[in-house]
Amino acid sequence: VSIAVVLPAAGRGERLGAGVVKALRDLAGEPLLLHAVRGVRAVGAIGPVVVLAPIGLVDELQVLLASYDVVVTAGGEHRQDSVRQGLAALPADVDLVLVHDAARALTPVSVFDAVIDELRAGAEAVVPVLPVADTVKRVAGDRVVETVDRADLRAVQTPQGFSRDLLERAHARGGPAATDDAALVELLGRTVVTVPGSEDAFKVTRPFDLLVAEAVLKARARAH
Ligand code: CTP
Ligand code: MG
Repeated sequence: VSIAVVLPAAGRGERLGAGVVKALRDLAGEPLLLHAVRGVRAVGAIGPVVVLAPIGLVDELQVLLASYDVVVTAGGEHRQDSVRQGLAALPADVDLVLVHDAARALTPVSVFDAVIDELRAGAEAVVPVLPVADTVKRVAGDRVVETVDRADLRAVQTPQGFSRDLLERAHARGGPAATDDAALVELLGRTVVTVPGSEDAFKVTRPFDLLVAEAVLKARARAH
């Protein structure tokens, strides 16, 4: 089977602030996207990789990634649009697709492998998850309505893995409120399986996350 990765990197990174787009934000001396691509390319089982770039930055990202075996193409306005562009750019012989946020730039190989193993074992949709550490409450305005039972809750990460057919059908149907790809598959009534995620697979979203990412990289360098 051929396994491809769709790597959405076309967001602006508004919550991160500062002028430059998130994909080009400096992390330990290199653009965030370079860390993400290196992480994906470290996974032996992965074939084609399609990177979705912000419109207007396709050429620049192509130059940045020239020495990596990836295709760079333009993303869309919303993440869902970018993933759809990525699916459209995949070679015909791809059977399994992992959708992976470039912003989860430090995701360990072990998480990719866990998702791929589950797909190979026959699952058609797989997401990495972590238990929720905080107590979670439902609110209405500033009033607490109830405390949600944390035992049944999971925080969901990427890479999310799918049979290509199912993911294409899910994206063709869409879903306005879906914040990940698995949600579109759930809307089709199909089963999504979970595997253990990793703290290192956190999404760089706010300035604090860049500090954490630098610390993770320092710890990894020390461990070598
Ligand atoms: N993404 C994308 N195309 C978009 C929006 C987001 O490819 N139109 C990608 C981002 O580049 C990121 C991933 O989807 O790798 C997750 O999105 P998020 O963390 O929200 O990143 P941004 O949209 O860039 O950040 P923000 O929402 O703060 O602007
Ligand atoms: Mg966003």
